[in-house]
Amino acid sequence: MVVAAEIGGLFDPFPYPLEFLEPMTPQRLLLTLLATALLSLHGACTSQESSPQPVPKLASRYDTAQPISELMKWVIDPAADTLWDAVSWISNEKGTKANAPKTEEDWNALHVQASILVESANLLMLEGRAKDEGLWMEKARQFGLEARKNLKAIEERDVEKLFELGGDLDHACESCHLKYANYQSTSASK
Ligand code: HEC
Repeated sequence: MVVAAEIGGLFDPFPYPLEFLEPMTPQRLLLTLLATALLSLHGACTSQESSPQPVPKLASRYDTAQPISELMKWVIDPAADTLWDAVSWISNEKGTKANAPKTEEDWNALHVQASILVESANLLMLEGRAKDEGLWMEKARQFGLEARKNLKAIEERDVEKLFELGGDLDHACESCHLKYANYQSTSASK
């Protein structure tokens, strides 16, 4: 510390009491190291707090507690039934009468149900619901594609098309059921 004391004497660049520059003892070294370590630890903690939270594991990100049977019963089946019932033809001696959506409100109601079906295909593919990564995904995707065709027909106000598509949609349901559900829906007769 002789050097520092001499410089201090010349132009005093170091306005601290000289005892601050006392020789480094092992105890002082330890204290200094400890203080430095604590400071950098504090820095690490604060920088971690400001960084984004880690993304949760996929399996816990979605609430898939509602079993597939409930999803079918309360979401998919009612939506599909509304589409299947939307168009029919009644024939009698006076001719054929179409039962079809007419008003904007009728079409909007169908638009809601078709959207539910399109999105339901995604719900079936969620981790926690999907039965496997192969055939199940294919069946769910096919179902989604059929649902989307229905949505398009509704957007285009195409009654004939909507009627035609009913069979394909039903086929998409049954083709998955045959493989995974051991279940024959009543709509198979439609
Ligand atoms: C990707 C596969 C898949 C597709 C597509 C699918 N389902 Fe299902 N469905 C299942 C499975 C699996 C079950 C059996 C669930 C169980 O019992 O655990 C089921 C069961 C059902 C049930 C019985 C629910 C109950 O009360 O237990 C109905 C109704 C149903 N599906 C209707 C439909 C309709 C309508 C469609 C098409 C618009 C459809 N499903 C499309 C897989 C599918």
